[in-house]
Amino acid sequence: MKFQKKILCIGAGYVGVPSMAMIAAKCPDCRVTVVDINSQRIDAWNSAELPLYEPGLEEIVYKTRGRNLFFAKDIENQIRENDIIFVSVNTPTKMFGTGAGMAADLQYWEKTAREILQYSRSPKIVIEKSTLPVKTALAMERILSSAKGKITFEVLSNPEFMAEGTAIQDLENPDRVLIGSRETKSGLKARAELAGIYARWIPEEKIITSNIWSSELSKLVANAFLAQRVSSINSISALCEKTDANIAEVARAVGMDSRVGSKFLNAGIGFGGSCFKKDILNLVYLCNYYGLPEVANYWESVVKINEYQQERFITNILGSMFNTLAGKKICILGFAFKADTGDTRESPAINITRRLLTEHAEVIISDPKALTNAALDLADEKGAIAYMEDPYRAAAGCHALVILTDWDLYKKLDYKKIYKSMVKPAFLFDGRNILDHNKCFEIGFNVYPIGKPALSHFVKQDC
Ligand code: UDX
Ligand code: ADP
Repeated sequence: MKFQKKILCIGAGYVGVPSMAMIAAKCPDCRVTVVDINSQRIDAWNSAELPLYEPGLEEIVYKTRGRNLFFAKDIENQIRENDIIFVSVNTPTKMFGTGAGMAADLQYWEKTAREILQYSRSPKIVIEKSTLPVKTALAMERILSSAKGKITFEVLSNPEFMAEGTAIQDLENPDRVLIGSRETKSGLKARAELAGIYARWIPEEKIITSNIWSSELSKLVANAFLAQRVSSINSISALCEKTDANIAEVARAVGMDSRVGSKFLNAGIGFGGSCFKKDILNLVYLCNYYGLPEVANYWESVVKINEYQQERFITNILGSMFNTLAGKKICILGFAFKADTGDTRESPAINITRRLLTEHAEVIISDPKALTNAALDLADEKGAIAYMEDPYRAAAGCHALVILTDWDLYKKLDYKKIYKSMVKPAFLFDGRNILDHNKCFEIGFNVYPIGKPALSHFVKQDC
């Protein structure tokens, strides 16, 4: 079959594959190839067991794979053969040298730019899909224009706003698609070509355009605003616990103001995931770099509140369980950074588990999709950890249940049965506020939600 457009994506990760699978599904006349330096990952994408869990992704990959979606290892040939190249490699926080712990580590990204330059034999549209510091496209343009030859490269910024767990629906029906370009004749032409691909299934009014720098910055700011909402509600949850106010009631009252909106106001153990912390630190670094320390401090506080929230949670567990966890068995329900994913990157569960182990607790971790990643995250831990997918088996014989991920499954468990199998007094720390706390209290648990009064059978004696 002769394809209308030949599209390549470099980086077969959480961003690259779902977004390319959607393009392949919606544009059968486009050939979409995804490459990665990690050849095991490519093998897995070509196998019956895909390397990551995302609801709906399997179906769409199975439908398109071998038809117009391909996973390949020959990066050099693929760069040569394709006209439109998405760059979706990882840009983690830099862990060395200037900007360590803050700035984005651009080594993978720059290596990709140099590969594109080295192997290209015809003009290309190069699209930044990874989240990058503002002005990265300029560096990319500089690398690509060092060819001194006839080959021209047009660099676009097209950040991906999808969230894990809902990636497929976000890609199918996004709030907006943003395309940033140079406002030159060739820049506008490239922008129109990319917009034409999305216009196959996304209403035109949702495809917005801007200059490249606005586009790059918008992605960082969108994530910073979302994370800020989580930190805002979490900071108020601390005040609720001191004043007998209830965070769910406060969030509902505040969120019903249409100027505020009701989404992203769930208090919990803090945000995780590969984006929020990394992108805010990147934003903080940029603000400092451009001589704006007040702005940098403002955004850094979002990360600090996130850390504070986890710390509060751990202190609360320790304090409620008579200030000692040594030898106690604690069942962690959920290790993924949010529901409907097996991803554990920056999951609050990592830090919380480590802290429980430092207190010499015995930890039993349960999660429907994230146990493999959990075991990798905690591989260096010397403490007592067990992994059990079945939540009933995991909870049996434990002193406390600690809910760290908002999996739907945990809302539907038989807590009476669980309570019976646990050591008494049994504690329940709902780090996601997903359970019916009164019901759990009636069953017999001492219940500790976030931002709501604790329901403790000891309260009367304590007074
Ligand atoms: C985020 C952005 O939502 C997405 O637009 C961007 O492309 C990538 O980063 P993601 O990290 O996949 O997506 O998940 P998201 O749903 O944003 O949740 C991030 C974290 O915030 C999770 O740990 C989640 O549990 C937490 N969260 C979210 C809360 O604690 N409370 C809320 O109300 C919402
Ligand atoms: P994200 O969540 O941003 O998609 P991932 O880590 O899931 O991040 O995916 C990024 C992918 O990019 C990884 O599979 C990694 O192996 C790949 N990658 C990094 N550098 C290169 C490169 N130079 N060429 C091809 N693939 C790369």
